[in-house]
Amino acid sequence: MHCTRKVTDNLYWVGANEHRLALFENIHPLTKGVSYNSYLLLDDKTVLFDTVDWSVCRQFLENVAHVLNGRKLDYLVINHLEPDHAASIDEVLLRYPEVKLISNEKAFMQMRQFGFNIDERYEEIKEGDTRSFGKHTIAFVYAPMVHWPEAMVSFDTTNGVLFAADAFGTFNALDGVLFADEVDFDRDWLDEARRYLTNIVGKYGPHIQALLKKATPLVPSIKFICPLHGPIWRKDFGYIIEKYDKWSRYEPEVKGVLIIYASMYGNTESAAVALATKLREKGVKDVAVRDVSSTHVSWLISETFKYSHVVLASVTYNLGIYPLIHNYLMDMKALNLQQRTFAVIENGTWAPKAGGLIREFLDKELKQITVLGDELTINSSMTEEKDVELDSMADSIVESLKG
Ligand code: FEO
Repeated sequence: MHCTRKVTDNLYWVGANEHRLALFENIHPLTKGVSYNSYLLLDDKTVLFDTVDWSVCRQFLENVAHVLNGRKLDYLVINHLEPDHAASIDEVLLRYPEVKLISNEKAFMQMRQFGFNIDERYEEIKEGDTRSFGKHTIAFVYAPMVHWPEAMVSFDTTNGVLFAADAFGTFNALDGVLFADEVDFDRDWLDEARRYLTNIVGKYGPHIQALLKKATPLVPSIKFICPLHGPIWRKDFGYIIEKYDKWSRYEPEVKGVLIIYASMYGNTESAAVALATKLREKGVKDVAVRDVSSTHVSWLISETFKYSHVVLASVTYNLGIYPLIHNYLMDMKALNLQQRTFAVIENGTWAPKAGGLIREFLDKELKQITVLGDELTINSSMTEEKDVELDSMADSIVESLKG
């Protein structure tokens, strides 16, 4: 059974929702699914923009056939070749023997690498090229590394639709929603949009910045932003563009404190919660406490992009950093996280080492960071004396938040 929605005159969403996938890219947990968006334009020629993951190909094909309503498919524009959007290209080629693929040189090279049988049915475009399909003229703009090297966006100069590839995407299935203004995006979707962006494309902040700069002249003409995941934007462009601008500059969204702890028997957890309590008592409104052992690192990364201050509290494990804290630190480095203020708490019963090693990692591996004071060392459990030290750590965080 088809399941489609009209975006605007002659343009339809023909994508599909995925609910059964547990891990996106086989690593990031999905709790409310994900959508793979594809769009079909009916002009003198029919033009499909991107395909979907293989897992939802059947639904997608039914959608395309329904909207085509007996017409043939003339063109398939490929903005991004990652298989969650491109895996169904072969199936489209099989079902629509007259279709011609439109994309750039790198994308066609990757299609051959993936073993797609594109034979002669392709048309290579270059940056800035345009193609007319009747009333609609599409301009192609390269967007390298947002999120793969071949990525590009396509802009319909006739109706102001920007096919934005991975940019402005988010986790969560659409389940009937099409436009961001149909939901309370800030309340219900923003955290997943940040988790998607920071974990999937976070490393490539400068490339997102380059795309935003390139797209600036288009902004007054943009009427719809159609990403490959999540809802379409048709208003409040400033809201989502500002978020993307901040995340890709690695600027915190809020002045607040994220406390991440690793605790084997609850003593380091007590210190983390005690610190959160002190910060609240001292008037800090935005404080989050997360257990590294029960919070997937993708959420930790997302919240690290959100908050200005991060406290890392770790037990010592095998004379080193607790493995899950180490994994989180490595992810921060891989995703280019920078411009944050840290404080460090370590715990160890006979040889506390985690704090010094965390500090060394932060100093050496992350850019433009500040570490407040020395690490606070706990020997097994909190004491009255350590509580005084924890209080001064809270004071220095509060002072730093004023800056
Ligand atoms: Fe949703 Fe980079 O693919």
